[in-house]
Amino acid sequence: MQKADRLGKIPPYLFMTLRNKINEARARGVDVISLAIGDPVDPTPANVIDRLAETARDPENHRYPTDEEWGMLAFREAVARWYERRHSVTLDAKKEVLALIGSKEGCHHFALGVINPGDTVLVTDPGYPGYKPSIWFVGAEPVAVPMKSEHDFLPKLDEIPSEIAQKATAFYLNYPNNPTGAVATPAFLAELAVFARDNDIAVCYDNPYSEMTFGVERLSFLSAPGAKEVGVELNSLSKPYNMTGWRIGMAAGNPDIIGAMATSKANTDSGVFNAVQFAGIEALDNCDAFIGEMLEVYGRRRESLLAVLRELGWTFEPPKGTFYLWVPVPKGYTSADFCDFVFEKCAVVLAPGAAYGVNGEGFVRFSLTVADDRLDEALQRLRDNLPRLEFD
Ligand SMILES: Cc1ncc(COP(=O)(O)O)c(C=O)c1O
Repeated sequence: MQKADRLGKIPPYLFMTLRNKINEARARGVDVISLAIGDPVDPTPANVIDRLAETARDPENHRYPTDEEWGMLAFREAVARWYERRHSVTLDAKKEVLALIGSKEGCHHFALGVINPGDTVLVTDPGYPGYKPSIWFVGAEPVAVPMKSEHDFLPKLDEIPSEIAQKATAFYLNYPNNPTGAVATPAFLAELAVFARDNDIAVCYDNPYSEMTFGVERLSFLSAPGAKEVGVELNSLSKPYNMTGWRIGMAAGNPDIIGAMATSKANTDSGVFNAVQFAGIEALDNCDAFIGEMLEVYGRRRESLLAVLRELGWTFEPPKGTFYLWVPVPKGYTSADFCDFVFEKCAVVLAPGAAYGVNGEGFVRFSLTVADDRLDEALQRLRDNLPRLEFD
């Protein structure tokens, strides 16, 4: 059977590979704890579940949600209220907001709506593994923009060669950042908008961790001067409301890009189940306190993990965003070697930095989306089984 050539470019999805490794070890009776994937184990807020149950009983919601192709206007208005309240960003719900089946889906429709075959597209390296496949699927070429620890994992836009900047038609990036946990600054976002305008680049600012910052302000790209002229922001209910399985998110910003994404979507799927959109409205309107509670939970888990890492010899500056810790590997290990070592000694799974790009080598990612008792158990195993480690 013929397979499309475009699939040949796509490496095995990291988490599928890890899942196989975990399942195989579990089948051998090993009690594996995964700190690799960012998928909250804590429940969705009860009022959101209630709203789903209630609206799922209404037969009106059992039909195709296509009456409003961009998502229910009520949902898009809730997105606009949320952006106004949480980010002081004003959006026109009718023209500047699109409902998504998660922000991962948005990455794809951004490519289908905006990028042409043969285009050059900038992506940060290390970066979220979802971006490159979206770019390859539309026949374009990703070009890596390095993120380095010495620049707080923010790309140096002025170091992108001018011929590449001028050739590029789009740029994918996300802060608070997966995988590094780095956060953006208002100055960086303003510089990004100017860089995009000067080089005629459409920005896909993927912001599913926008609410997850520790000790620094939350930031939306759309709050930067000129941002709406050059790009869109993707966001998601997955991470702030523990709703990864519900598949709901939003794109907001430049109306031309939103319109192009909507055309691509309208010809691909038939929208988000209305009951999920009603539940989404409940989350966006009435769960600010819940976000605060989850940040306390992650903050506590972060401190426990940092304390153990310090006991074991780590001395790095922790990132200020997301529920990940991006941690340098000890002397003498590649990121994959160190993950194997920790797995062998502790049956704890970490994500190797190299899986996020060449500049991810030298780091591993810990995720805090694990139940407290399992995290405590994982930390005890690290304490008991790892030697004191040495660093460059
Ligand atoms: C940077 C980034 N973008 C998008 C996604 C996917 O989010 P969603 O569940 O909204 O599709 C993730 C999930 O881990 C992510 O880390």
